[in-house]
Amino acid sequence: MSRQQALLFCLLAPFTCAFTQALLHNSEYAALNSSVGGRLFKGTPLVLPCVPSKDIRTGNCTQIQAEYLDEGLRTNTPGAYVVPQWETCQATGAQCLLDYTDPLNLAPLTPPRECLLGSIPPYFIDVQSEEDARVAFEFSKRFQVPLVIKNTGHDYKGRSSAPHSLALWTHNLKNISYDSNFVPEGCSIASAGVTLGAGVQWQDAYAFAESHNITLVGGSDKTVGAAGGWLQGGGHSMLSNTMGLGVDRALQFKVVTPDGQYRVANACQNQDLFFALRGGGGGTFGVVMESTVLASPQVSLQVVMVGFASTTDTALTRQLWSTMTSNALQWAEEGWGGVAVANVAIYINPILDSAGAAKSMSPLIEFGKQLQSGQVEGAQVISTSFESWGTFFDWFAAENVAITGVSLALVSRLIPKASFATPESQAELVEGLLNTTIATPRLIILMTTPASYPGDNTTSVTEAWRSSLYHVTAVSLWNWNATKEDKKEAYANASASIDNLRRITPDAAYQNEADVYEPNHEVSFWGSNYQRLLEIKNKYDPSHLLDCWNCVGWKPSAPQFSCYL
Ligand SMILES: Cc1cc2nc3c(=O)[nH]c(=O)nc-3n(C[C@H](O)[C@H](O)[C@H](O)COP(=O)(O)OP(=O)(O)OC[C@H]3O[C@@H](n4cnc5c(N)ncnc54)[C@H](O)[C@@H]3O)c2cc1C
Ligand SMILES: *[C@@H]1O[C@H](CO)[C@@H](O)[C@H](O)[C@H]1NC(C)=O
Ligand SMILES: *[C@@H]1O[C@H](CO)[C@@H](O)[C@H](O)[C@H]1NC(C)=O
Ligand SMILES: *[C@@H]1O[C@H](CO)[C@@H](O)[C@H](O)[C@H]1NC(C)=O
Ligand SMILES: *[C@@H]1O[C@H](CO)[C@@H](O)[C@H](O)[C@H]1NC(C)=O
Ligand SMILES: *[C@@H]1O[C@H](CO)[C@@H](O)[C@H](O)[C@H]1NC(C)=O
Ligand SMILES: *[C@@H]1O[C@H](CO)[C@@H](O)[C@H](O)[C@H]1NC(C)=O
Ligand SMILES: *[C@@H]1O[C@H](CO)[C@@H](O)[C@H](O)[C@H]1NC(C)=O
Ligand SMILES: *[C@@H]1O[C@H](CO)[C@@H](O)[C@H](O)[C@H]1NC(C)=O
Repeated sequence: MSRQQALLFCLLAPFTCAFTQALLHNSEYAALNSSVGGRLFKGTPLVLPCVPSKDIRTGNCTQIQAEYLDEGLRTNTPGAYVVPQWETCQATGAQCLLDYTDPLNLAPLTPPRECLLGSIPPYFIDVQSEEDARVAFEFSKRFQVPLVIKNTGHDYKGRSSAPHSLALWTHNLKNISYDSNFVPEGCSIASAGVTLGAGVQWQDAYAFAESHNITLVGGSDKTVGAAGGWLQGGGHSMLSNTMGLGVDRALQFKVVTPDGQYRVANACQNQDLFFALRGGGGGTFGVVMESTVLASPQVSLQVVMVGFASTTDTALTRQLWSTMTSNALQWAEEGWGGVAVANVAIYINPILDSAGAAKSMSPLIEFGKQLQSGQVEGAQVISTSFESWGTFFDWFAAENVAITGVSLALVSRLIPKASFATPESQAELVEGLLNTTIATPRLIILMTTPASYPGDNTTSVTEAWRSSLYHVTAVSLWNWNATKEDKKEAYANASASIDNLRRITPDAAYQNEADVYEPNHEVSFWGSNYQRLLEIKNKYDPSHLLDCWNCVGWKPSAPQFSCYL
């Protein structure tokens, strides 16, 4: 088959189009490379330098093994992902992973096992300008090559990788600037704003905020992107209760839409796109080059932490979570956000002073003191304060690092205020949470909903965010040698586990941290905003150049999804 025939075949039979990929001549990629200033490069697996049979060792295997579970290494490496099944083709088993329990073990790479590209994009563009995105859209449309946008690779649903795709790697768009009188283009009202290049990660944004004595509301992980998928999918923070979700604070996006136009989206122009980018999800409506978000004055934080050693003492966990759920409505009204697991709860508050905080949190502090006087192992109560979010974050992030480098099925649920309204509903919720920990013990309760933040009805996340108090996540893990059936079972187990909460809550979940197979996902992620989002998707991306898994208006049958189970 000639290339012309192949392309025609591709247009007529998109399902088998992936095969035509191989027929794209080097000359087409060479032309693409020169259109993007020589910044096209091939995708390779993170651990390729560890393959014993490889003659050419271009990287440092020792370092990769030492940092296999490190999010810094993974987010700096184009072919690496934080949740590594998205480097693999789950459907075929094509992969190049190490053993996460022992990265020194080279059995996963020893023949007859092969090191294969799996879902890693074979080509990446190191994006420097909007022109790169325009060129990529043109190439994708002309040669039917699926596009993905990869920023940090934190995505839990594999939306930043795809087999046989071309990736736009936004990692090096690191500019940050602060304008105390930022006026969105075409508007007249000024507010303090920080403009973040698409590749900025939270640790850098927080350091920048500290140096300017301002607060940026962001996630609880160092290396999640500040302006990409986190923001466009909602963006929750321990400060969201009082200061809003990421999308509530977005002031402007600069974005290349699939027609190649570079657009400014804000409250005064391209309002439809502005609405879509404030919660419709990343990787769907365009390539965001930069996002400007609201900067608030520095806030001092009151912090209360209570914990004990055992992660498996159900009676103690029940007491901790009962204390939390029976006070949850009041604590939310009084400004607390935070995070809790089976044996620790951490709450932070930007509006109370230390006396007010001690009074408000007295039920939790009392519980902690009882643990201490009862000699419960590892019992601790900490009441302290920090002068800023950044100083708190450094303290928090030093101890709390999310699972990285381990394949996993994550599931989640938004828990409505109604579940906290009566002693009966509180008891049912605690029961549901404990039931969930049976199959997925690493359950995390995030007090990161904008429960006290009204919003202005111009964001597109599900409205359930505002009527919820908790965002609950749970995971099921597997290692490099899991079979396809094992993986399916892990997804099914995680999903069945969160069913304990699905049964007692409305359909609502956070798209960025949701079940890959979330039932009724349009309603769960976007509520009544879905129809409008779909119209906007069809307007800006009629050719489906930017589809991703369970994203607005996606086509599930496209070959780029062939590696999902
Ligand atoms: C360890 C860990 C901690 C987390 N903590 C939090 C948290 O505290 N709060 C929270 O809300 N979420 C959190 N998340 C979830 C996080 O919001 C999602 O993983 C999100 O998708 C990350 O976005 P990214 O741009 O960093 O990652 P990527 O995987 O690179 O991208 C994610 C999605 O966004 C798209 N995208 C990225 N950049 C752009 C762009 N410039 N333009 C258009 N589309 C783009 C991609 O195509 C993809 O669809 C966490 C995730 C992990 C793994
Ligand atoms: C793209 O061009 C640059 C500069 O000429 C070159 O170094 C690089 O290897 C090329 N990329 C590919 C994928 O050929
Ligand atoms: C490889 O990395 C290890 C660990 O980080 C380091 O000690 C070693 O010097 C590095 N080797 C080379 C050749 O760079
Ligand atoms: C980043 O900032 C520098 C210096 O202000 C500027 O020259 C460059 O164009 C900016 N890059 C992007 C992608 O905006
Ligand atoms: C931040 O606040 C400190 C202490 O009040 C002050 O010394 C510093 O100049 C301020 N920095 C900026 C950029 O405003
Ligand atoms: C928890 O599990 C028990 C025992 O299987 C069951 O009776 C109960 O209904 C479950 N409750 C919730 C809220 O899931
Ligand atoms: C948002 O919509 C709700 C419900 O329609 C309405 O009650 C509320 O007043 C609106 N808020 C704003 C700021 O427009
Ligand atoms: C998978 O690998 C781990 C170590 O890497 C090993 O302990 C386990 O037995 C293996 N499981 C199977 C089914 O081969
Ligand atoms: C799924 O759950 C069952 C029953 O709890 C358990 O036996 C099995 O090991 C789990 N499988 C995986 C892959 O987690």
